[in-house]
Amino acid sequence: MIEIRDLSLTYQGPKGPVHALNGINLKIESGEVFGIIGRSGAGKSSLVRCLNLLNRPSGGQVLVGGRDLMQLGDAGLRAARRDIGMVFQHFNLLSSRTVWGNVAFPLELAGMSRQEIAKRIDPLIELVGLGALSDRYPAQISGGQKQRVGIARALASQPKVLLSDEATSALDPETTRAILDLLRQVNRELGVTVVLITHQMQVIKQIADRVAVIDGGQIAEMGPVLEVFTRPRQTITRSLIDEIVPQQLPDSVMTRVRELKRQLVPGQAGQLLRLSYAGESAYQPILSHLIRELGLDLSILHGQIDEIQEQTFGSLAVYASGDAARIEAALQHLRAVGVQVQTVPGEA
Ligand SMILES: Nc1ncnc2c1ncn2[C@@H]1O[C@H](COP(=O)(O)OP(=O)(O)O)[C@@H](O)[C@H]1O
Ligand SMILES: [Mg+2]
Repeated sequence: MIEIRDLSLTYQGPKGPVHALNGINLKIESGEVFGIIGRSGAGKSSLVRCLNLLNRPSGGQVLVGGRDLMQLGDAGLRAARRDIGMVFQHFNLLSSRTVWGNVAFPLELAGMSRQEIAKRIDPLIELVGLGALSDRYPAQISGGQKQRVGIARALASQPKVLLSDEATSALDPETTRAILDLLRQVNRELGVTVVLITHQMQVIKQIADRVAVIDGGQIAEMGPVLEVFTRPRQTITRSLIDEIVPQQLPDSVMTRVRELKRQLVPGQAGQLLRLSYAGESAYQPILSHLIRELGLDLSILHGQIDEIQEQTFGSLAVYASGDAARIEAALQHLRAVGVQVQTVPGEA
């Protein structure tokens, strides 16, 4: 659907050139929700604006539905852009127009008759849940409702792709969830491919199928969301996931670990283990094997369990004490059943 090849973008800033994007390669499949996450200044907006040539890349190619956007003339580009809708963080609604008038606006510009417009957008306004509010002005509706208008307007030209640049960043958590559910619904029911930019892993976790982590204008890591969550390879990814799965254990837990260590009897070993598991391995009786078969004592210290794309994933911190060789065997067993095991150095 969308393919980006060796994309680069350099701005001419007041203090010289700013290399905002360097050598970006990615492929977004038709029908998926593709998330792009990164910290502020990473290059997310620069990248998403290259997908409809609001930013003209300094190098590389942007192919949308097989068309190389940079090779298109004005008319071709206008047509290509009709296939690519966009929603913005600050909604960008026209304050002098009603909800209906805002959604209708792109079609009026395209010269469509009022009757055709109504036929097209009335169902859209219903879809986004604003049927009862279509005569209100932006000042008379909430932030979440404004974003619903933004989404309906972006869908008015029946795009194949919807670009969302921090569409929920100005909204509270509950409204964020509702808007993400709406984007998911648009994706499933209308078959629209969604490219979603965010700085929040929570957003990625809720709706993305795949995610690319962008850092310093480059792709640091990319993959299916569950995989990136359970096997993050880069420091930047780990720190972004931290808001959902904290990498550091709380101090109270570390105090408890020191206590447990002091209580070890001579000849007994102890090891703090951090386990993370997903999908199939989440359903296996992983701990009972260690207790029953290996005779280890386990103290559960910290943990959480969550779901991504209907797949369970969880993390658990346990302190295992017992025979040193059996602790080693336990590590091997856990890894063999697909559990990620991190032994915490210095806490052996
Ligand atoms: N129009 C511009 N002129 C010069 N530099 C810019 C411009 N827009 C963005 N930048 C710079 O490019 C980098 C990436 O910005 P941006 O794509 O907005 O990041 P993000 O959306 O991830 O916060 C930043 O260093 C930013 O300061
Ligand atoms: Mg941005």
